Amino acid sequence: MAYSFAHKKILLGITGGIAAYKSAVLVRELIKQGAAVRVMMTEAASRFVTPLTFETLSDYPVAMDMFDSHRTSSTWHIEWARWPDVIIICPATANTIAKVAHGVADNMVTTILMAAKTPIIFCPAMNCEMYKNRFYQHNEQLLRENGYFVIAPEEGELACGEKGVGRLADLNDIVSETYWVLNQTNSLADKKVVVTAGPTREAIDPVRFISNRSSGKMGYALAENAAIRGAHVTLISGPTALKPPRHVHFKSVDSAQEMASAVAESAAESDILIMSAAVADFRPKEKSSQKLKKDEFGFNLQLEPTTDILKSAAGHKKNQIIVGFALETENVLENGKKKLAQKNCDLMVVNNPFVAGAGFDVDTNQGYLVFRNQEPIHLPLMSKWDMAGEILNHIERLSIDHKY
Ligand code: CTP
Repeated sequence: MAYSFAHKKILLGITGGIAAYKSAVLVRELIKQGAAVRVMMTEAASRFVTPLTFETLSDYPVAMDMFDSHRTSSTWHIEWARWPDVIIICPATANTIAKVAHGVADNMVTTILMAAKTPIIFCPAMNCEMYKNRFYQHNEQLLRENGYFVIAPEEGELACGEKGVGRLADLNDIVSETYWVLNQTNSLADKKVVVTAGPTREAIDPVRFISNRSSGKMGYALAENAAIRGAHVTLISGPTALKPPRHVHFKSVDSAQEMASAVAESAAESDILIMSAAVADFRPKEKSSQKLKKDEFGFNLQLEPTTDILKSAAGHKKNQIIVGFALETENVLENGKKKLAQKNCDLMVVNNPFVAGAGFDVDTNQGYLVFRNQEPIHLPLMSKWDMAGEILNHIERLSIDHKY
């Protein structure tokens, strides 16, 4: 996800594990998304990757030696501890985690951590047996209980050749967790939000289907953004290439029928339903259980309409906010207004895929927000992440209006 870390100061602490080489990519990614990054390292980390690599990437001297003759002040560690908005320890070794959990400050990294007042995120990476070790587990638990964030390592093949849990979390997850820690609010606290995303696939036979070009990016951005605002989010997604966002309940579906059932299960209890999925309007009348031969196809594929999920949810609505999406290639506003009325929605997000930078599989979008009793609002070209934020700001406003 392309977030914005503009004006955010991130201190990255690197401790001595082989995953230290991945931290170079993390620095690049955070800087690319607008953050100012400084790096501190333990002596052991510098055996894996040199400070010069990080000095070059962050364009700032690396802090490693408490008694460095180039230090800018005699209370250098305090100056560094006060600088960042968030600290990420990546990779975090069992040794550093044990030290922090027990109040040891015996190098530049652990001393800065002890002096810090900002949120701290640990990204452990180690051999699977070290990770399972009960002393390690106890120390990690101590960190969690004391308000530190820990991004659990993943299962997979480890540098030592063994397989198990211990591999550094995906860098994208580290970036998204950092964004979450920095931007968490409670503007949608305790709200139940259901978001649908992606295309649906309507099977012709076991290997062929009818689908569309939806990437799911807009819906995934909405789900993640709502979770950052404190909502309990269920994301119901058709097949996409995207990884489910952290902190959302994820349901994977294939066909329009499966999506309709999943929405029926979750939507009745929800406060907000956002139908950003590109649901197929038609499906083959019959699905063959065997792969059809060319000559069995004929030239006519018989189709039947799928259930209109949005319309039927809006038909049963009580006190919910219901949001639809409409893709229109002509008379965009007029058709959007008609669709809002036909489908009984509170808000219709209308866009035209022919406009440069909008539509399928791009990271940007533009369009109109069409309301029941209010003039439409034009959203200029922006990232899908920012557009998700704009849409949710309006949904928040509508849900306050609903209450009074
Ligand atoms: N939608 C739905 N169930 C369907 C088809 C669409 O819930 N079977 C929802 C989409 O998720 C979207 C909205 O309806 O929020 C608009 O879908 P769209 O396909 O643009 O509108 P249609 O009503 O299908 O009209 P048309 O294709 O003729 O423009």
